[in-house]
Amino acid sequence: MTNILFINSCVRSGSRTKRLADCLLSKLKEQAEDRNEQIRIEEVRTSEIPYPEIDEAFLQRRDALLAAGAYDDPLFSPARQFAAADCIVIAAPYWDLSFPASLKRYFELINVTGITFKYTPEGYPQSLCRAASLYYVMTAGGTFVPEEYGYGYIKSLAQNFYGIQDIRLIQAVGLDIDGADPEAILQESMLHAVSMLTM
Ligand SMILES: Cc1cc2nc3c(=O)[nH]c(=O)nc-3n(C[C@H](O)[C@H](O)[C@H](O)COP(=O)(O)O)c2cc1C
Repeated sequence: MTNILFINSCVRSGSRTKRLADCLLSKLKEQAEDRNEQIRIEEVRTSEIPYPEIDEAFLQRRDALLAAGAYDDPLFSPARQFAAADCIVIAAPYWDLSFPASLKRYFELINVTGITFKYTPEGYPQSLCRAASLYYVMTAGGTFVPEEYGYGYIKSLAQNFYGIQDIRLIQAVGLDIDGADPEAILQESMLHAVSMLTM
């Protein structure tokens, strides 16, 4: 059984990012079926997670749970789910040079020492995650899309905290530019997505 964790940060009905991600997911499914492999896709909608307020009281409670080794506390369910996935698919529209805040909050929730990563005695993060690949699916209205604030941040987390080296960006940009043909751009990105399947 291959477990795909689909982290969905799209909020608009008719989201183009979601369409692109759905195309990727159906191809991943097809590919697994061709190999007679079973596949399970679990979806997490980051905008619907009831996030705790990360204040001092919360941090103290979390530290106490971790010090007691209470990794099975419900607070850590999202982190355990992330650590157990074989493949991660993230869908995030490009917002304000980055991604929706709900995705950042999701990472604040799942970055738990002892579950998704740990630190070496020298202070370097070491992965405790199972996933071998991560797909980052993104669409942007314009074409000024520098990597460092959005995808680049996720890529660095994936490589350095979660030990995932196979990281693919699937994007469609310039969708909202005057005179652009968003449908044609999306179709091209879908073809590109299919051509870069690695799982
Ligand atoms: C809150 C918000 C912020 C946005 N910020 C940017 C931006 O910084 N740069 C850009 O090129 N497009 C920006 N856009 C446009 C979106 O990236 C674009 O419309 C995208 O395709 C939306 O994805 P969706 O169809 O999945 O919702 C923004 C849109 C919204 C709603």
